[in-house]
Amino acid sequence: MTHTIGVIRGDGTGPEVVAEGLRVLEAVRDGFEVELVGFDLGAERYLRTGEPLPDEELERLGTMDAILLGAVGDPRVKPGVLERDLLLRIRFELDQYVNLRPVIRYPGVQTLIPSHNEDDVDFVVVRENSEGLYSGAGGFHRKGTPYEVAVQESINTRLGVERIVRFAFDVASNRRKKLTLVHKTNVLTFAGDLYQRVVNEVAVGFPDVETDYVHVDAACIYFLDQPSRFDVIVTDNMFGDIITDLGAMIQGGMGVAAGANINPEGVSMFEPIGGTAPDHTGKGTINPLAAIAAVQMLLVTLGEERAADRVHAGIGHATQRMKSMRAGEMGFTTAEVGDLVIEGATA
Ligand code: IPM
Ligand code: MG
Repeated sequence: MTHTIGVIRGDGTGPEVVAEGLRVLEAVRDGFEVELVGFDLGAERYLRTGEPLPDEELERLGTMDAILLGAVGDPRVKPGVLERDLLLRIRFELDQYVNLRPVIRYPGVQTLIPSHNEDDVDFVVVRENSEGLYSGAGGFHRKGTPYEVAVQESINTRLGVERIVRFAFDVASNRRKKLTLVHKTNVLTFAGDLYQRVVNEVAVGFPDVETDYVHVDAACIYFLDQPSRFDVIVTDNMFGDIITDLGAMIQGGMGVAAGANINPEGVSMFEPIGGTAPDHTGKGTINPLAAIAAVQMLLVTLGEERAADRVHAGIGHATQRMKSMRAGEMGFTTAEVGDLVIEGATA
């Protein structure tokens, strides 16, 4: 069995953390082969050619079994170009409509919230990843005049809401069987209403899953005050973006937070969610655990559960030995953290 994995190392610290992720993958690989296909995409390519994502590259990405992405972004590129025309374009065109972001606190990890017990933080956010405020609908009127109007619309389709809610119920039925809708139904009375109705309808098919509802602002309070109330959260694209950064902080920081952009019928893409960290580029100080956790999710999606479990164990082995999850304060270099994971994964 050979899995073909597209690799977008990207910019900044992206290549360094991807290198550790791939080293771990090689170490845990057992009973299957991988073929790595490199994609030269990111700021460098864009600055060189003026094209963030040529159509042929997108097409080629669509033929992979999975994609591993480091990070894209560069201060020399106008904000929005690589985000919209590279990252979001891949998510949208490959119809990766689920953004799955586990919020797990690995053993030994210190966080900013002293009142949390280690096992309080163990939930997953199922973020809608194909529409909402990210759809790009809207525009300017009378731009640059005193009468300027900027409209940015949230598009929520029945199909889009239903497929993300179904996915979330499926995840919940394989976990602690609790699904929480996070939205803002008291103000967003159209989009919120659609989400709530769909949750109620889909819930009928999952009688063993308990459902709950929390406003997005209150969810931020609960992340700090009572995270154990969550098992699976389903939410829209924008709210999901925001709360998963807060989620990363209660799991120990961006250095450990990974996400999967999933098309259950197509090609999925896995990424550390921390960005390019330009201050740490090339210094061996960046935390590779988020990229390694992305590899773990990639393995689950490819059906390589045993290898995925080893990676998970390896991460726990590393976190128990590291001083901090913060770049530059880990007590180990980037490569040494990779070594620790491999040591734990292959013990
Ligand atoms: C994320 C990021 C992206 C998003 C940006 C870079 C477009 O913040 O993956 O959470 O908003 O989805
Ligand atoms: Mg984000």
